Amino acid sequence: MLTKDMFKPAFVLTFLIATLAFIVSCSKEKVVVEEVNLAKAVKKDKPLVLPDFDDPTLMKGKEIWLANCKKCHKHSLSGHPKIGDKKAWAPRIAQGKEVLYKHAIEGYWGMAEEEMPPRGGNDDLSDADVKSAVDYMVEVSK
Ligand code: HEC
Repeated sequence: MLTKDMFKPAFVLTFLIATLAFIVSCSKEKVVVEEVNLAKAVKKDKPLVLPDFDDPTLMKGKEIWLANCKKCHKHSLSGHPKIGDKKAWAPRIAQGKEVLYKHAIEGYWGMAEEEMPPRGGNDDLSDADVKSAVDYMVEVSK
């Protein structure tokens, strides 16, 4: 029943705090569940294989990849094309290197409907840096 008391500020405040606390606890639970699912899926993922190459550009690319791209491209969750996953990379490699460079430098929101941030999120990387990381990832994944 609606009474005048219900609209007293103290009541309204208590109600708001309770609602907020409820929302916060729900979203926390969701995050925990998502983290557990992520951990399980990562465990099931095949181990990472990161070979070395004689070509110094590819080795420079590997260094850049480890520092900037690994966090997303080390697993195949949420559509991230995992390094070394030939099946995931085939349609991407088929677009040609220039398209891959462009998407890695400018950013890309594509076939996985997930964001590939410009330069992997590191503005300090030069075009050549990003291209070498792309070259390394493609070389390992073709
Ligand atoms: C924050 C996560 C994240 C980081 C960091 C990241 N990527 Fe990506 N990348 C993605 C996602 C997600 C996709 C797939 C996008 C899609 O298809 O919707 C992708 C796709 C790509 C593609 C394929 C583009 C295409 O046309 O299919 C290349 C090449 C690429 N990334 C290179 C890199 C390089 C090089 C780096 C490091 C400098 C890097 N990525 C760092 C998330 C990331």
